[in-house]
Amino acid sequence: MTASPEPPAVRHLAAVQDPDPAPNPHATEEQVQAALQDTKLAQVLYHDWEAENYDEKWSISYDRRCIDYAVGRFTAIAPGAPVPYGRALELGCGTGFFLLNLMQGGIASTGSVTDLSPGMVQVALRNARNLGLPVDGRVADAETIPYDDDTFDLVVGHAVLHHIPDVEQALRECLRVLKPGGRLLFAGEPTTVGNFYARWLGRMTWQATTRVTRLPFLSGWRRPQTELDSSSRAAALEAVVDLHTFDPAELERIARSAGAAAVHAHTEEFAAALWGWPVRTFEAAVPEEKLTLRYRLFMYRAWLGLSWLDEKLLRRVVPREFFYNVMITGIKPR
Ligand SMILES: C[S@@+](CC[C@H](N)C(=O)[O-])C[C@H]1O[C@@H](n2cnc3c(N)ncnc32)[C@H](O)[C@@H]1O
Repeated sequence: MTASPEPPAVRHLAAVQDPDPAPNPHATEEQVQAALQDTKLAQVLYHDWEAENYDEKWSISYDRRCIDYAVGRFTAIAPGAPVPYGRALELGCGTGFFLLNLMQGGIASTGSVTDLSPGMVQVALRNARNLGLPVDGRVADAETIPYDDDTFDLVVGHAVLHHIPDVEQALRECLRVLKPGGRLLFAGEPTTVGNFYARWLGRMTWQATTRVTRLPFLSGWRRPQTELDSSSRAAALEAVVDLHTFDPAELERIARSAGAAAVHAHTEEFAAALWGWPVRTFEAAVPEEKLTLRYRLFMYRAWLGLSWLDEKLLRRVVPREFFYNVMITGIKPR
């Protein structure tokens, strides 16, 4: 009897570089204390701890909804790009949300997922395997990418640049591992103005919700105190892992200084962010079972409607730095 050939995903998984460090989802108090002084240790502890529940926490899926979202971000800043790219790399992949959905949407054919957190790489590879995608992966720091020069056609990231101490060094590394003519593209970064109003709205909503739900007749809407305390502790660690916010023009300057050509930053979500941040904070402050499917669908449709308003109208009158999300793209010169 002859062995049947391995499916592509399995063949690629065999190429995962060993030994990667093992995930550590249960940090000790000592490690947490050390992490308060060490942003990269904080990244690993925080994201290893979050990895197994991350998709659920952020409503990440690998179906049409998130494929359209990921591909929509890509085409918003790189319309007419020569897709599909051959080999793509993702930095700070988390559970694989961006690259796996871009691959499903036809933006790249094969992929490598990397993250500082071993727990995240493990979940991203599992997600890729479940989707049958040809993806390999390894633990990697974006400031020192462990791949050879001129390896990839596309390097992407989502919500990762603001965690990296030296952003210009990371972009220089992206350009090194890109083939000449290859593209880098990062989405989901907070603007400086957007982050200011999002944090302020989040804080106000958290205080209002946790105070109002102390009233006896609203006690069913109050999460147990231990869970609220744990959310506050996570928020404290978040302050150690969130290092930057970006002005779009400054981000363009950093990408050019790293050596990229055809650099362009694009911003999104103004009304959608003013609405979305209080909603997200409210949802984190009340028990999960109170948020019915009907409620979630309504909120999602409201967010879609406001995003449409942002694109069709507000983009023409509101300066780009007031929008919440910034993305950046550039090309490695030939
Ligand atoms: C906010 S999460 C985003 C995850 C995923 N890209 C997404 O959008 O769902 C940021 C990710 O970046 C990773 N990260 C932080 N600093 C990093 C670094 N220096 N190099 C590589 N990954 C890093 C974290 O471990 C985490 O998984």
